[in-house]
Formats: sequence, structure tokens, C-alpha cells
Amino acid sequence: MSSPNSSIESVLVENRVFPPSDAVVKAARISGMAGYEALCAEADKDFEGFWARLARENLQWTKPFTRTLDESNAPFFQWFADGELNASANCLDRHIGTATENKTAIIFEADDGAVTRITYKELLARVSQFANALKAHGVEKGDRVLIYMPMTIEGVIAMQACARIGATHSVVFGGFSAKAVHERVIDAGAVAIITANYQMRGGKELPLKAIIDEALATGGCDTVRNVFVYERTPTACNMVEGRDKTFAQALAGQSTDCPPVAVGAEHPLFILYTSGSTGKPKGVQHSTGGYLLWAKLTMDWTFDLRPDDIFWCTADIGWITGHTYVTYGPLAAGATQIIFEGIPTFPNAGRFWQMIERHKCSIFYTAPTAIRSLIKAAEGDAAVHPARSDLSSLRILGSVGEPINPEAWMWYYKHVGGERCPIVDTFWQTETGGHVITPLPGATPLVPGSCTLPLPGITAAIVDETGNDVANGAGGILVIKRPWPSMIRTIWNDPERFKKSYFPEELKGYYLAGDGAVRSADRGYFRITGRIDDVLNVSGHRMGTMEIESALVSKTDLVAEAAVVGRPDDLTGEAICAFVVLKRSRPTGEEAKQIANELRNWVAKEIGPIAKPKDIRFGDNLPKTRSGKIMRRLLRSIAKGEAITQDTSTLENPAILDQLSQTN
Ligand code: WT7
Repeated sequence: MSSPNSSIESVLVENRVFPPSDAVVKAARISGMAGYEALCAEADKDFEGFWARLARENLQWTKPFTRTLDESNAPFFQWFADGELNASANCLDRHIGTATENKTAIIFEADDGAVTRITYKELLARVSQFANALKAHGVEKGDRVLIYMPMTIEGVIAMQACARIGATHSVVFGGFSAKAVHERVIDAGAVAIITANYQMRGGKELPLKAIIDEALATGGCDTVRNVFVYERTPTACNMVEGRDKTFAQALAGQSTDCPPVAVGAEHPLFILYTSGSTGKPKGVQHSTGGYLLWAKLTMDWTFDLRPDDIFWCTADIGWITGHTYVTYGPLAAGATQIIFEGIPTFPNAGRFWQMIERHKCSIFYTAPTAIRSLIKAAEGDAAVHPARSDLSSLRILGSVGEPINPEAWMWYYKHVGGERCPIVDTFWQTETGGHVITPLPGATPLVPGSCTLPLPGITAAIVDETGNDVANGAGGILVIKRPWPSMIRTIWNDPERFKKSYFPEELKGYYLAGDGAVRSADRGYFRITGRIDDVLNVSGHRMGTMEIESALVSKTDLVAEAAVVGRPDDLTGEAICAFVVLKRSRPTGEEAKQIANELRNWVAKEIGPIAKPKDIRFGDNLPKTRSGKIMRRLLRSIAKGEAITQDTSTLENPAILDQLSQTN
């Protein structure tokens, strides 16, 4: 495989176009470009009327809204604000009394291969029962509940139960550290935590509850009154008397009937923490009405969902993709979905393909990093090649989280999709709530490596630093000019940061995505060129360089200074590269390796294993200007192994470049 750099080259000359077949166009919900353009025209002609129609058609409101969009307090936009609904009722109760009630909602495949199925009716009963347990423990509408769960049916139940009683959930990915959990408990002011004793991944039993215990022991978490523990495995874990209870204990005697609590459309359904340009993660706050509309709508638009589809989004519920395309979208749309507990390489790297065959998956949605690693595995071992599995059930493939290089796109198209399945390369973010720029499978001619065109009603554009549109072919800053229903509402506890991060004054009130992009000269297709802020994308996971720097310098006995940059990586898209100045002399050889490992483990403990720097280089100093500013672009060149061609005349200490360029 070539490096992302050369793949960017090949995107620039990318001229392969894959239009959907006539049969696919004919059968699709949004049929052909004419169908897409008709929706765009409707949004253009009557923006609010368009969204009002869709919100009425796609959601069940207990109190209908009378106002669609309120821009009076921009950028704190409100959608459908006087309407009331319940998210869980829109995912579960709406199917009761219809043909969907006895349909399988979730096919759960555990790490060890055991399969469990649950129907919509059964899921409603279990969500209701758990919602009653939460209520019985004093959790109320508006309370925040932190969820730290493995990929299980119970994870979805925990989220849906919160939604059912109007509690705002904040899911923390099970790979995050005790420190990360602690920060989020405090920032969100969580009153309860829902977790599991352990999680099973790749045949290993990994602790979850112990990490919650460690987080809560750090102090300052007095808001947390209850910890609910799902006993995923028979192994015992520490239980704190009075605070902790197992699911079985909490559910005992609770009714399976729990009326959903109607909330205002703007009521915060969840907070999800994500990385930004500073060391502190941002609590992205989402609404109930606008968010849920998007989850449901994009299931229909982007995935062209049909009643008999078997949908599989491989994302963890700890990320936004798992929120929108596991917990809310598929259920709101009445789909049957696969939930997988384990990892793609266990017991072998053919697991995804075998599961597609086993469960007759028809829509498969995963990340480029997973595809790239499975390509590598399949090329090395024919036994795990997708050709070994019957993938004829597939009809649509999706990609999410990072740019997909055309080489990986072509392999996915050919070897997984049998040159038959459109690939929807969906561009979006935690903040956008759901897809914003993406092909539609029965309409958009595909170009490998391009997320093609904005969804109807999404006014995406590429502008310069002053907010003026740039011509197709010229790169610039990706913005969305008008609000849309599922957009971020604010940063929890920090409305000022929300305004500054996403609606900087120079950009005329447009939403700033934080990505660079370019539109093709011929079709006006969007291609994302990567983040323009200090955010890295490693295996589709978003990491702030400052967060990692803070973690490194918090090892105060060892580290004096640290600077973190990204460099291209064939497998993970970007890799984390840290330049570190120690409080002692610069180590070399074995000693450097040993200290680098110590620092990696430290970062894993501070943030989580996903934040471990791949490269760590030691220097006597960092390249700085005379005013003391670290010159990161030089570090980026060094990290890439490039010759330094930039002007270094403003550098205080040019000799440091040679030192840092040597691999220790
Ligand atoms: C960042 C958002 C999308 C949900 C999961 C990640 C990058 C996302 C694509 C894509 C190129 C992409 C962007 C974006 N990104 N999808 N299809 N093509 N880049 O959500 O953690 O909030 O990260 O992921 O850089 O800003 P997230």
C-alpha cells in the first residue's frame, strides 16, 4: 500500500466514476440525481417548510411543534422548540402494534461467537424495566448519567432507558482511562454510572468496573449516588455497599412497563465528549428532536433502508457513530441490526466477512482503518480473505471517520462489494450528529476518495479565511452556512467555547467544521483534506495534540516539555508523534526505548491506549522562535522524515533540527 501522501496524489488525478446501476436507481428511495435534486430544490425554496415536513413525517410528537427554526439567539439555534416527544418512544413504542413489533431489533454476536436475538417488543420491555430501575434509584429528567459499557444489548438498553425518562446520557468509550472518566463525571455532574464488571475483547476479559472505582476514588465525584453494574462475565468485581448494585439487583421487582417522559425538542438527549484544540475535551450537547430526526432520516437517505435489510454499523456506542447508527437511527427506522462485541481480528481477521455471511448482512458500515488492516491481513492469508465468505447478501457499503484512500476504496468495492454495492463515504462529525456530506446509494455517481455532495438542506461550502467562497478546484475551509436540525447545540458548561470554536466572527456566522476541503472542478464533489486545527485522526479516533501534550508533561518527575504532531500512516491514517524534552539529559539507544515505553504507558493511563504516541523522539530542546513559540510545522516535517525546506531563519536554535531528525 502506498502512503496517504501518494494516495492524495492519486485522488487529485482520480477520474474513475462509478454510477449506480439502473436497477439500483430504480429501486432506491431517493432515485437518481433527479430525486436528489428535487429534495435540494425543495429545501432551497422553503427551508423551514422542508424540515417541518420531514420532522412531522419521520417522528412521533406528543405535542406538535408550531415553530420550526428559531435563529433569534444565534448561534444557539433551536429546532422544533415548542414540540414535545420522547426519543425512546420514537425508537421502540412506535413499532408496537405494527408489523415491526415482533421483528428482530438486534442480532448480538458476542466475542466468543454466541448469538442472541431480541425483538422490538422484548427490547421495549427491557428498556422500560431498566428505566424503572433508574427512576427507583432517584434518577430524574434532566439528570446526567455516565455510561461506560461494552458493545452489548445492555449498552443500548442503558442509553435508551436514560432517554425514556429524560435523563441525559454521556457515554464514555470503554477504552478511556479512569482519569478521562473522572474528568467527564465532574464536568457533566453525573448522578449515576452504568457500567459492566468486565468486557470481553479478543478472548480477553478486561476490567471496566475497576476503572470506574479508580475514577470515583479520585475524589470530587460526590454527585454520583448509584453505580449500576451489568455482570457481563461470571468473574466477581469489587462492589461498594450502598453505592453499587448489579443489574439483577436493580431490576428485581421492576415492572416492564414504563411510560416515556415527553421532553421538549431541545432537551439534551446526550452529551458526548470529543477532542478539540485545547487540552480539555468538549462536551458536545445534542438535542432530542433535531438529532433524532437526523438519525432516522439518514438511515433512509444514506442507507436507503428497506424493511428486510440487515444493517451493521461496526462502531462502538462510545463514539458518535455508535450513537446515531447503532442506538438511535436503526431503531427509529425499525431496522434489524447486528451488534458485535468483539474485535475484527478475533478469532481471525476474517471475522467481519464471516459475520456478514452468517447474519446475511445487507448494509455494512465501517471505518477505513478497519478496511486497511483487513486488506493487509487478507493479502497475507487467503483463509481470511473476503472471497472465502459468501457476501452476496450485501447491497450497500459505507465508510466513516476518516478519509478513505482510493486504493482501500477499490479493494472494498471489489472484494467486499463484488463491484455491485455502492460505497457511501459519509463525512460528518460528533458535532453534526449525523451524515452531512455523503453519496446517496441510488443516486450519486461515486468517485473513490470523495464524500461527493451535501445532503439536501445542508449548505456546505468551501471558503477562505474571510468566509468568501473559493472556486472549485481551490482548497479552503469547510463550513456549513445555515443551521441544520441535528447540529451541536452547545458545549456543555461552556457556551463561550462553543461560539468561539464553531462560529468564529471572521466566518460570517457559518459553522466551522475544522476540516480543510476541496471541490472537484468537474462535478463540484467535496474531498476532505484533513483537520485544519490541532486535532489528529488516528484510526478514525479524534485526538487533540494538546491533550496528549498535557498528559506527557503531567509526568512531572521526567518530562520538561512536549510537543505532539501527526504524521501520515499507511494503516491508521495518521500516527501520533511526540517530541519530548526530559528533565534529565537526552537518552539514546536502549535507554531511550525504555523511557519512550514508560511514557507511552503513562499516556495510556492518563487518556487511554488509543492516545499512545507511536513515535517518541527526545531532544535537548524543541525548535522555537525567538519569542518562544514552538514551530510545529518543522516538527511535522521531521515526523514525516521530510527534508526541511521551510524558512528556519526565525529559529532560536536551528541545530536542534538535526538532533530531532535522528531516530533515537
Ligand atoms: C472528523 C470528525 C464521522 C463520525 C465519526 C468521527 C473526519 C469523518 C470522514 C470522511 C474524511 C472524515 C473529519 C472530521 N472524518 N468522516 N468520510 N472523510 N474525513 O467523528 O470523532 O467527531 O471526527 O473525522 O476530520 O472532522 P469525530
